[in-house]
Amino acid sequence: MSRKIGIVGMGNVGAAAAHYIVANGFADQLVLIDKNEAKVKADALDFEDAMSNLQYHTDITVNDYSALEDADVVISAIGSIKLQDNAGDDRFVELPFTRVNAREVAENLKAAGFHGKLVVITNPVDVITSIYQQVTGLPKNHVIGTGTLLDSSRMKRAVASRLGLDPRSVVGYNLGEHGNSQFTAWSTVRVLGKPITELAEAGGLDLEELDHEAKVGGHTVFHGKKYTNYGVSTAAVKLALTIMSNSLTEMPVSNYREEYGIYLSYPAVVGNDGIVEQLQLDLTQEELDKLQNSANFIKQKYAESQE
Ligand code: LAC
Repeated sequence: MSRKIGIVGMGNVGAAAAHYIVANGFADQLVLIDKNEAKVKADALDFEDAMSNLQYHTDITVNDYSALEDADVVISAIGSIKLQDNAGDDRFVELPFTRVNAREVAENLKAAGFHGKLVVITNPVDVITSIYQQVTGLPKNHVIGTGTLLDSSRMKRAVASRLGLDPRSVVGYNLGEHGNSQFTAWSTVRVLGKPITELAEAGGLDLEELDHEAKVGGHTVFHGKKYTNYGVSTAAVKLALTIMSNSLTEMPVSNYREEYGIYLSYPAVVGNDGIVEQLQLDLTQEELDKLQNSANFIKQKYAESQE
């Protein structure tokens, strides 16, 4: 069986995702779509130039929505050039642009008869994921945002570097909006077989400082190069592979939670049918309040995006 992935948006993020896929042979067929035809054609040619030095062959199609009809996964990596002067560190500066373009992409996917799983990177991701679901009419559990999978990995990086460990030795989640109202749910974080709250008490770890470091991690990268791409594209490809391999991995991604009535990041089990199970964490009251606050914020922004 042939594994087919589509990527819409060949900017810094889409191109990094495409390279990761091509270099590792993660798909047999890759469909690349961008309004800048010269750029997307050049990227495809560049990948083909890499192929004789790679282990795997990938068949690449350019700017053909009809080729997405039978794609397993489509990744939305469209973005906004407006973000380039985002002085306020706010992902919502992209919304006026991305909400229009996401609608257009969603209409095109629908017209193409796409019926696979949609992985959304496009910011502000929780609101844009809702818009994609609404316009495509795909089942809610088939439309998933990368959400705080990335922020959780930033938290792991921050914690691990303090403790001199590999980030994969840290488990736990950032929850809520992939944005400024997110937070690290410290009650879920464990390291070296212990709750991090115990280690923090014993070893003087400043959890508030670490929470802040994870939350502003995207802004920190952005200030250095005016975009972020490797962290988020890796998260998106991981999500795509989890879906395609039906690995039933639990991860904090943006999924529709009935009790909050909106897409937000909360851990779920991901497999071939998209979100196959939603976890119920034992959060503290303070964490529940923060999550409700983040949900309210996303809901309000979603309502504004519909005006
Ligand atoms: C980031 C972008 C994807 O946090 O929002 O890197």
